[in-house]
Amino acid sequence: MTVVCRQAVLSDVDPLFEMIEEYARQGIMLPRSRKVLERQIGDFVVAEVDGVVVGCGSLCLLGQDLVEVRSLGISEGYKGMGIGSKIIEELIKQARERQIPKIMALTYEVSFFKKNGFTVVDKEIFPEKVWTDCVSCPKQHACDEIAVLKMLS
Ligand SMILES: CC(C)(COP(=O)(O)OP(=O)(O)OC[C@H]1O[C@@H](n2cnc3c(N)ncnc32)[C@H](O)[C@@H]1OP(=O)(O)O)[C@@H](O)C(=O)NCCC(=O)NCCS
Repeated sequence: MTVVCRQAVLSDVDPLFEMIEEYARQGIMLPRSRKVLERQIGDFVVAEVDGVVVGCGSLCLLGQDLVEVRSLGISEGYKGMGIGSKIIEELIKQARERQIPKIMALTYEVSFFKKNGFTVVDKEIFPEKVWTDCVSCPKQHACDEIAVLKMLS
């Protein structure tokens, strides 16, 4: 199986929308409309197997020194094959290229992130996050996601 990890392009909007929508229905991700995906397509990386998009992830700049991993997901049937780790590797590479020293995520998949060099931290240390996505999140006052952080410098 050959996995290609590449920058997303506009023709990926539909598969990205479907994948994120499915995880949003399960309460694992925040939904993204097709319009938002079109606008933010440059922030997304996709993983392809035999020309089919089977995974995605994106970076969102939260401040001068902090970037967040968002919308990270792998299609059912392709989990546990290292594809998520490949996407994380690519996102970390891009953050390093942009000289951003810290990368974080809010997640339920703590062991996956630990495996990829992140450590669990207190989410209160990210006020930037609270003022971007969390303000419009239905779980705002009962957030049970775990914050993870990796220092890149
Ligand atoms: C979390 C996720 C992105 C990991 O991607 P992946 O390609 O399955 O991960 P990898 O193969 O690179 O790494 C495997 C690790 O992922 C974790 N994992 C989570 N769900 C898994 C599953 N269904 N099958 C296998 N591994 C899974 C385990 O920690 C596993 O570690 P192990 O191999 O030591 O047991 C993927 O399982 C997924 O899409 N989950 C649902 C969406 C989600 O929660 N995204 C995170 C939002 S921040």
